[in-house]
Amino acid sequence: MLISGRGSNLAALLAAAADPGYPAEIALVLANRGDATGLDHARAAGIPAEVVESRRWGHDRSGFEQAVEAALARHAIGLVALAGFLRVLTPGFVARWEGRLLNIHPSLLPAFPGLHTHERALAAGVRLHGATVHLVGAEVDQGPILAQAAVPVLPGDTPATLAARVLEQEHRLYPAALAWLAAGRVSLVGGRAEVSGAAAPAAALLNPLPAAAALPTNLP
Ligand code: GRF
Repeated sequence: MLISGRGSNLAALLAAAADPGYPAEIALVLANRGDATGLDHARAAGIPAEVVESRRWGHDRSGFEQAVEAALARHAIGLVALAGFLRVLTPGFVARWEGRLLNIHPSLLPAFPGLHTHERALAAGVRLHGATVHLVGAEVDQGPILAQAAVPVLPGDTPATLAARVLEQEHRLYPAALAWLAAGRVSLVGGRAEVSGAAAPAAALLNPLPAAAALPTNLP
């Protein structure tokens, strides 16, 4: 896993992977900054935690990525999960890991790629917001979507309250999506991802909810 900060998604994945039935092993946590507090989750779980300081590489993105890939090779990594990793990867890195590189983004992509997604969702007045797990494509926050979680935007929400509601769902979504990929249940069809054997939700999410009086009364 590649992280840059607090690592709450990493913690959720570590908790999921602690189950012997989970189809992936978290074999390495690598941060691009030594002060990433998420490294503590890895250390507490006894998982190898390494730092490749991106600052030391300046604009030499390929040099930085070579150091990252050397660490991935040392630990025989087969899948890379980005979780709050704040470095844009080069097209070369993305191509080498095509189909094996996952990211979680705090919006319902393709809406709000980039930073400050919760502020932008509030400013746009959307009623539903959420998170997306996707395979990393050529553009930032783009690529085949594996799974999404939607939450309502509520009156009085601030970026912080909305972020917390989304993050809670991220912690459910990412372990599920990584498990599907690791178990070989994801296939690419026409550039889109299909997940085999996943259950479809029964209900739609409306926000705001129509008043009871506005609903049809002739329901069985
Ligand atoms: C999450 O909101 C994730 O979607 C985004 O960065 C944040 C990382 O949080 N890519 P954490 O480090 O996993 O707590």
